[in-house]
Amino acid sequence: MTRAQWADVRRILSAYVRRGDPAIAARDVLLACPDVAIAQAAIGEARERSRSATTRAALGRLSRLMRAHAAGCERIARMLRAEVDHDRPLPSVDEGIAFCRKLFDWSVRQNPESSVALCSLGSPRLLARVTHEIVAAFAQWGVLGRDRDTLEIGCGIGRMQVALSGRVRSAHGIDLSAGMVRAARKRCAHLGNVHIQTTSGRDLARYADRSLDLVYAVDSFPYLVQSGMALVETHLREAARVLRPGGDLVILNFSYRSDAAKDRRIVRALAKRHGFAVVRCGDKPFAHWDGEAFHLRKAARPLND
Ligand SMILES: C[S@@+](CC[C@H](N)C(=O)[O-])C[C@H]1O[C@@H](n2cnc3c(N)ncnc32)[C@H](O)[C@@H]1O
Repeated sequence: MTRAQWADVRRILSAYVRRGDPAIAARDVLLACPDVAIAQAAIGEARERSRSATTRAALGRLSRLMRAHAAGCERIARMLRAEVDHDRPLPSVDEGIAFCRKLFDWSVRQNPESSVALCSLGSPRLLARVTHEIVAAFAQWGVLGRDRDTLEIGCGIGRMQVALSGRVRSAHGIDLSAGMVRAARKRCAHLGNVHIQTTSGRDLARYADRSLDLVYAVDSFPYLVQSGMALVETHLREAARVLRPGGDLVILNFSYRSDAAKDRRIVRALAKRHGFAVVRCGDKPFAHWDGEAFHLRKAARPLND
């Protein structure tokens, strides 16, 4: 392990001991050091060095979780070492879309759960825990209802559509990866109000004006941002077009650039340009996932009505 990796792992472990979710810490340790044996050794060493019983107990929990999901951790480490993914800005929207399509077609073949959330460690149970938290938050924010039509941009394997199907009138999902669309259709085949479609990744063209009550994106906006702000701008304009008056746009994670203040500034400016009120702006409302939440609401009556 290099000095820089060791420093990263130490920073991650101390944040984990303060904040507390071992699955998030396991993901971050693997991102910093994609070799499970070395990662486990680093956690063991930090545990031995610590004089605090609380820290040792927390590090013990992390180590046990990684052992319990050893195969999932190994797979994630292999996926990271393959370097199909990276977070460098892409030179054009065309290249961004081609990159995402290739990345997610490949990722879903490695493992469905890891392809949509590394902090699932490849486990359906850990992924379901995060999904339930998101659905509970949506319910609390008042964006669900049996009279509501919903659309997810970047639906991946369709976990959100399965979870929302019984709580909304319709649960649409679009994705630019054919592999993801196949996985989502299979997962949702028994649900009559779920509709999964392939998208060009450029817009929401297949949806009519004022036809939806909730448009949301779970961890897909960072890829739009990576493809360029022109694509983000188009999706905000499109969301404003397809939402009914008073409809909601929820974005969970806007970018991966680790500059929360900048993301908040950009989202506020986008909201203003496209006629949304900002309901929440970049807080971290989840215990089992560190996604940042942005909730925008379209004016109940358009200004020119
Ligand atoms: C990290 S995965 C999350 C999947 C899903 N939202 C979830 O949380 O389970 C990101 C997804 O966004 C999709 N995606 C990326 N860019 C997209 C775009 N421009 N339009 C539609 N989907 C996109 C990817 O193919 C991938 O399935």
